[in-house]
Amino acid sequence: MTNKVVIYSSTLGKTRKIANHIAKELGADAFDLKKQTVIDLSEYNHIIFGTGIHAGKPYRPVVDFLENNKNQFKGKKRSLFVSCRTDGEKGEEQIKKISEALGISDAFFFPGKGEKGEGGIPTSVEDFIKEMSRR
Ligand SMILES: Cc1cc2nc3c(=O)[nH]c(=O)nc-3n(C[C@H](O)[C@H](O)[C@H](O)COP(=O)(O)O)c2cc1C
Repeated sequence: MTNKVVIYSSTLGKTRKIANHIAKELGADAFDLKKQTVIDLSEYNHIIFGTGIHAGKPYRPVVDFLENNKNQFKGKKRSLFVSCRTDGEKGEEQIKKISEALGISDAFFFPGKGEKGEGGIPTSVEDFIKEMSRR
């Protein structure tokens, strides 16, 4: 069994809502980088990052955390989800750029316009949770 953690940054609250839902479903811990930037990752082997996007860029606290904690990621799986408004092909292009910039190839995006389930959570989040539980 992998021990998972969700680490996120949110400005308007959408990423927070999605991150907390994912953490609850996976039985994972969740950390908000706006509240805590020093996180001991030694007990986790799968780190799931979450961020919104402003002007094509992921949020600064996530960028900084990734930059400042490289030594903590050794031998651990990393995944990324992005809460955004751009969907379709443009959304694919956008997530590709962000995934490359952050160095996390296992990357997914949840466009706000998409279908919503309970509590306004995009339905694609449920597929993401299934994927993550297999990692
Ligand atoms: C100023 C501003 C710029 C944004 N720029 C983008 C963008 O370039 N691409 C995109 O897909 N979404 C963009 N969005 C949409 C947000 O990324 C999206 O609403 C996200 O869910 C916000 O997450 P949060 O509520 O956790 O902050 C932008 C939103 C704002 C307010």
